[in-house]
Amino acid sequence: MTYNLVSSLLFSFFFLLQFTCNLAQAPAIPPLPPAISSPPAPILPPIIASAPAPGPPGPPNVVKILGKAGSYSTFIKLLQITQEVGEITSLLNNSNSITMFIPSDGAFLNLKTGTLNSFSDQRKAELVKFHILPSYFSLSQFQTASNPLNTQAGGTTDREFPINITTNGTAVNITTGIVNASVSSTIYTDNQLAIYQVDKVLLPLQFFAPPLPPAPAPVPSKPKKDDPSSDSSSVNVVPSTATSLLPHMFRGVVYPGCFFFFSVCYAYMS
Ligand SMILES: *[C@@H]1O[C@H](CO)[C@@H](O)[C@H](O)[C@H]1NC(C)=O
Ligand SMILES: *[C@@H]1O[C@H](CO)[C@@H](O)[C@H](O)[C@H]1NC(C)=O
Ligand SMILES: *[C@@H]1O[C@H](CO)[C@@H](O)[C@H](O)[C@H]1NC(C)=O
Ligand SMILES: *[C@@H]1O[C@H](CO)[C@@H](O)[C@H](O)[C@H]1NC(C)=O
Ligand SMILES: *[C@@H]1O[C@H](CO)[C@@H](O)[C@H](O)[C@H]1NC(C)=O
Repeated sequence: MTYNLVSSLLFSFFFLLQFTCNLAQAPAIPPLPPAISSPPAPILPPIIASAPAPGPPGPPNVVKILGKAGSYSTFIKLLQITQEVGEITSLLNNSNSITMFIPSDGAFLNLKTGTLNSFSDQRKAELVKFHILPSYFSLSQFQTASNPLNTQAGGTTDREFPINITTNGTAVNITTGIVNASVSSTIYTDNQLAIYQVDKVLLPLQFFAPPLPPAPAPVPSKPKKDDPSSDSSSVNVVPSTATSLLPHMFRGVVYPGCFFFFSVCYAYMS
């Protein structure tokens, strides 16, 4: 009875120690150095042998078109000083389409004296953009346009820069809330760019509307908690020296221990 109990106890010890010995032994195998794979061969860019062929003709030159048509020198000047010419060119170049309303020099002369000079550079740029729609409209396509239309200057709320269109057949009227104007002729049209003469300078309502009461100060957003993923690498990294040192530290104790208990076991059983 006692013999059985003690022997089974020792057996348990034996297995436990064998297990410990195996654990201690396992890391003794020196880890192989990581295989260094040869770096992939660099991909060479294809050699362009011939000189690039001349591209398709650039977008239509709005200034040239207006200059040729005559009597739009004030608007041309505005296009140039506001550098809107470049924006129009790149819009057209990116195969977007635009519609322009161009007041004649006569229409500018009909403005109240000093109106244009009273505008800051920013206002002048907004005024030019207000005469541009960021899509192509033929005269008949205006019939299906839904008010308000956003111009290149901004969105469709009253505080932005919308226009409204009314049509009767191909007769087109424009209202800004300040000015009622009519399309008086077509200066240029293709399927990408439409340029119409208007009988009045389109003055935006926004230039003349009383300023809005100051908006409430924005609530500062709470500082975001540290993203746990950002420093997870430093948290999860276990120093490799600790794991490799452990077996070496205990090997001296574990091996004699194993041998001792194995001997005791053997002596007792026999
Ligand atoms: C027009 O677009 C082409 C590429 O599509 C570009 O190389 C060229 O610089 C552009 N020109 C302008 C004036 O934006
Ligand atoms: C356009 O405005 C003119 C007056 O400026 C008016 O006689 C005409 O009826 C208007 N047409 C449309 C379609 O609103
Ligand atoms: C539309 O134009 C026709 C003539 O072309 C005219 O008789 C009619 O009164 C106009 N309607 C509006 C709403 O201006
Ligand atoms: C333009 O049309 C919209 C929608 O029909 C209307 O709410 C807005 O008051 C109009 N604005 C002007 C300046 O006529
Ligand atoms: C523009 O036309 C509308 C009617 O279509 C009229 O109520 C408004 O007074 C006109 N505005 C100007 C500045 O002529």
